[in-house]
Amino acid sequence: MKFNQIELEQVAGFKSQWPAENLEEIAFVGRSNVGKSSFINAFLGRKNLARTSSKPGKTRTINFYNIDNKFRLVDLPGYGYAKVSKAEKAKWDKLINEYLHDRENLKEVFLLVDIRHEPTALDVQMYDWIIDSGFTGFVIATKYDKISKNKLSKHIKAIKNKLNINDEGLIFAYSSENKHNLSVINEQVEVIVNN
Ligand code: GTP
Ligand code: MG
Repeated sequence: MKFNQIELEQVAGFKSQWPAENLEEIAFVGRSNVGKSSFINAFLGRKNLARTSSKPGKTRTINFYNIDNKFRLVDLPGYGYAKVSKAEKAKWDKLINEYLHDRENLKEVFLLVDIRHEPTALDVQMYDWIIDSGFTGFVIATKYDKISKNKLSKHIKAIKNKLNINDEGLIFAYSSENKHNLSVINEQVEVIVNN
């Protein structure tokens, strides 16, 4: 899928700032620092449209990217970042959960996990929610450039087992460094958007 016009349509710290539910949305969720914003940049072919940081907790709002007025990609804050005040954590969790539960035009949710680590209890909880909500259950296993290729199947199996996934085809090993599997995920998004 190719796009012409990409716009950061809205940065929302509150529900009242969400754009109208007139376009379908695809959201990316996962732990702080897993690479959600980096993925969105790579997907959109823009280096710095979504702000990223080596420090967890960079994205603190819900950011809506409008693609050709056809659909939106949604970048969310991360969860599970320990080094943040309870109040701040509660605020981000509220933002994330409110969006996921209330958004009527939410078409698909991708879970991002770090390929190097076994998914956490919060990842399992999020993935269970994704499946229970009727979404497909796609997983993007980021930072594939950080493991050796001969360890790939071991890491994929760990993710598959922990998240209780039957179909390994739902898991994409991915790297924002070398864009491994980006075209495959792009094709998958195209299917979702045209479906
Ligand atoms: P929050 O907004 O804090 O929730 O984080 P995020 O999930 O949006 O992560 P972000 O995209 O900001 O990336 C976090 C850090 O990981 C940055 O330093 C990125 O450069 C790095 N990073 C993201 N994806 C990859 C990847 O595939 N490979 C490598 N090596 N680094 C990555
Ligand atoms: Mg981010």
